[in-house]
Amino acid sequence: MNSYQIIEHEYDVVVLGAGGAGLRAAVGLSEAGLKTACISKVFPTRSHTSAAQGGISAALGNMGEDDWRWHMYDTVKGSDWLGDQDCIEYLCKEAPRAVLELERYGVPFSRTKDGKIYQRPFGGMTKNYGNETVQRTCAAADRTGHAILHTMYGQALKHNTEFFIEYFALDLLMKNGECKGLIAWNLNDGTIHRFRAHITIIATGGYGKTYYSSTSAHTCTGDGNAMVLRAGLPLQDMEFVQFHPTGIYGHGTLISEGVRGEGGYLLNSKGERFMERYAPKAKDLASRDVVSRSIAVEINEGRGVGKEKDHVHLHLNHLDPKVIEERLPGISESSRLFADVDVTKEPIPVVPTVHYNMGGIPTNYKAEVITVDGSEKTVPGLMAIGEAACVSVHGANRLGSNSLIDLVVFGRAAAKRAAEIVKTGTPHEEISKTETDKCLNRFEKLRNGNGVNRTADLRLAMQKTMQSKCAVFRTEKTLKEGVQEIRKPYEGMDSISVKDKSLIFNTDLVETLEFDNLIRQAIVTIDSAYERKESRGAHAREDYPKRDDNNFMNHTLSFCKGSETKISYRPVHKSTLSNEVQYFPPQERVY
Ligand code: FUM
Repeated sequence: MNSYQIIEHEYDVVVLGAGGAGLRAAVGLSEAGLKTACISKVFPTRSHTSAAQGGISAALGNMGEDDWRWHMYDTVKGSDWLGDQDCIEYLCKEAPRAVLELERYGVPFSRTKDGKIYQRPFGGMTKNYGNETVQRTCAAADRTGHAILHTMYGQALKHNTEFFIEYFALDLLMKNGECKGLIAWNLNDGTIHRFRAHITIIATGGYGKTYYSSTSAHTCTGDGNAMVLRAGLPLQDMEFVQFHPTGIYGHGTLISEGVRGEGGYLLNSKGERFMERYAPKAKDLASRDVVSRSIAVEINEGRGVGKEKDHVHLHLNHLDPKVIEERLPGISESSRLFADVDVTKEPIPVVPTVHYNMGGIPTNYKAEVITVDGSEKTVPGLMAIGEAACVSVHGANRLGSNSLIDLVVFGRAAAKRAAEIVKTGTPHEEISKTETDKCLNRFEKLRNGNGVNRTADLRLAMQKTMQSKCAVFRTEKTLKEGVQEIRKPYEGMDSISVKDKSLIFNTDLVETLEFDNLIRQAIVTIDSAYERKESRGAHAREDYPKRDDNNFMNHTLSFCKGSETKISYRPVHKSTLSNEVQYFPPQERVY
């Protein structure tokens, strides 16, 4: 039994996470007059959105003709027809409005000569339904996420969102299938807090740290996803893990696709622009899954560069140094710092690196969490947005710059929906002590772990398994081995050791809680990958090289209890929201 004294809070809405999605929602909620709390384990401007470089997509047409329907087509094709087209329609149609709002909030976008928002080309973004490259990605140099995050934090403060910073959320408070808030631990003074809310919005980002090499920050542990699994709800499409083609070799630091958008290109050890073979039209600006697979093939066939022939080169030394200075200052600095490379003179050594999770908490386009009980139904009181959510607009593969727009469009949608549902000041229901105790007993058990297994060792075992058994290319054999291996670090938690028992800035305990969150997501990811016997988007099965629309045009739903998973499926939505655009039927996907 635990004996914590609990500090109580009541809000109309609680937002968990202060990245781009969480802050955009918080601003909308506060503007709508709802009493809003935003809880974050890191200082808001340190959230991982700050690492988003290249830009945010929206068919503004500032650099030539564009149309949101072309953006929709590109996104459907990029998703390899796994995206829900009603949700993609909403995303692409709302995108221009959402970006212009960001401009009005004060985001310092780069500008064209005539003062419009500068837009650069990005992978898979085309006009006229795939016939020509378009400049659709709005950029603030190569620090777009950073610019958005700082602006939105300022706006949230201005609109009186109440922040709880360096609070670690432990679990959701569920009652009869409805979410009533959450329990959190204040890392700074060790106190435990119960937040009751009519709506809880999860905006905790992705779970890149399940892998050994990723562009993700150490904080990307998918805490909200794991809370949803523990609440008995499913995650969706977890097998779709995006490898960004250009992480710095040996470090994983992101080198923006904006580099190729500005004219950079990839070369193998023979000095060949190999992307011409794999994507004759789009070349280096094909979608990310295609470019990552092409690099992997070049390496596997012995045409990689370096002593171990295990990476390729990204050249931008032919570009005008003034363009590099103005539009790519961030990656110039990262290349110097992490690869000792002067990008005006030498190529950057790069390799595909885990970057994004297409899967997450299933929602509809209003950001309401859905579950499946015969048919789709919403979970009252619970919403999810951003990388934590699976709307699903990215399907099996996300296009670059469609992440930032997802954050702001659905952050905004969540605020709008919450304002329709919640009447400010409505009294809160009682929550039994049993519900609160359930969260705290898990916390207490981990804190008092006196076993022999160090969290860091279990985490490393998990990361190595994911990296080698659930990689760019997958087979029955590697996945089967992975399904078994990944359970070992989970079982290792029975005998975990947490040396520091204190409640104040206990990083040992934080990392243990994060590991408990990560390992559950690793299990459902690899189990879902094993069950999907086709290749689609980022899920490339060497033993099932073709897409199989007859059997797998479905979203995977994975439930998890301990290390036991239950996998089921729900059909992809095949209709649009309005008659302004028709459903795009499946085609062969070539670039
Ligand atoms: O390459 C990049 O700048 C990353 C963008 C994204 O993931 O959307």
